[in-house]
Amino acid sequence: MSMSKTDSATVREGFPRPFPNTPTNVLEQLRLTGKVVVVTGAADGIGYAVAEAMAEANAHVALWYNSNNAAVEKARELASTHGINATAYKVDVSDPEAVQKTIAEVVNDHGKIDVFVANAGMAISKPILEQTLDEYRKQMAVNVDGVLYCAKYVGEVFHRQGFGNLIITSSMRAHIVNVPVDQPVYNASKAFVTHLGKSLAREWREFARVNVVSPGFFDTKMGAGPESLQEAYRMSALGRQGHVKEIKGLYLYLASDASTYMTGSDVLIDGGYVLP
Ligand code: NAI
Repeated sequence: MSMSKTDSATVREGFPRPFPNTPTNVLEQLRLTGKVVVVTGAADGIGYAVAEAMAEANAHVALWYNSNNAAVEKARELASTHGINATAYKVDVSDPEAVQKTIAEVVNDHGKIDVFVANAGMAISKPILEQTLDEYRKQMAVNVDGVLYCAKYVGEVFHRQGFGNLIITSSMRAHIVNVPVDQPVYNASKAFVTHLGKSLAREWREFARVNVVSPGFFDTKMGAGPESLQEAYRMSALGRQGHVKEIKGLYLYLASDASTYMTGSDVLIDGGYVLP
């Protein structure tokens, strides 16, 4: 299709939109001063590293945790170290009422939500023939329903505000890779959220951005177990797991004004695991 001719029938009202009114200096673009960022699964692992990254960039942070109340002390430390507001909220993301109520609480406490990082997840590493239906439902309740509830209720806030930014933690396993452990339900749950994120990027195009992060093997509680560690080292081109400090910059980039032209992207960060 030629792009050189203007056909009045194809001109869209209000397009092209203006460029965003953001700084040209990239380090200024990465500053999150005055922004409010929610991170789920923030007590530990990737989620805490992300919360820390946001606080280091001067955002106010809401750390959502499920059972690990170390998040309460960690929020206190982030607040005193970085001079920002940091609050911990106990919420089970598989409970829709709790998600809705806590989102309202965050808005009440912080006035708005600029960025929501739907990061909480869990894995039961078993082949489907060894897995009970309860184990199946448990993973789907957190990895799929949990992300959907967060998206639905924070999406309402974003729509009302007229702005917002959703980042979903998926997995390289949504990319059909040869992984050493059979985890079909976990893999499929991550494929769901990757696709959900892309679809929401289109649905919410008038008011919010949505992007997906697909990590490879990171050194967290959920990281590769002993039975798959050697294979993880062998398969990743960089020959090791990722340290959580190595994922902070990617979430910060997606949360910040440095990525204002990105929506619907799925960014792999896997040390080269899925390379041919
Ligand atoms: P992690 O086990 O340290 O973090 C998972 C967090 O989710 C925990 O804080 C846990 O409390 C929380 N969570 C679990 N069930 C919950 C529930 N019902 N309600 C609220 N929170 C709940 O592990 P990690 O690695 O930091 O995982 C973070 C995300 O990264 C997960 O979505 C995981 O699937 C994903 N991921 C991790 C990889 C890795 O190698 N570590 C690789 C690819 C994806």
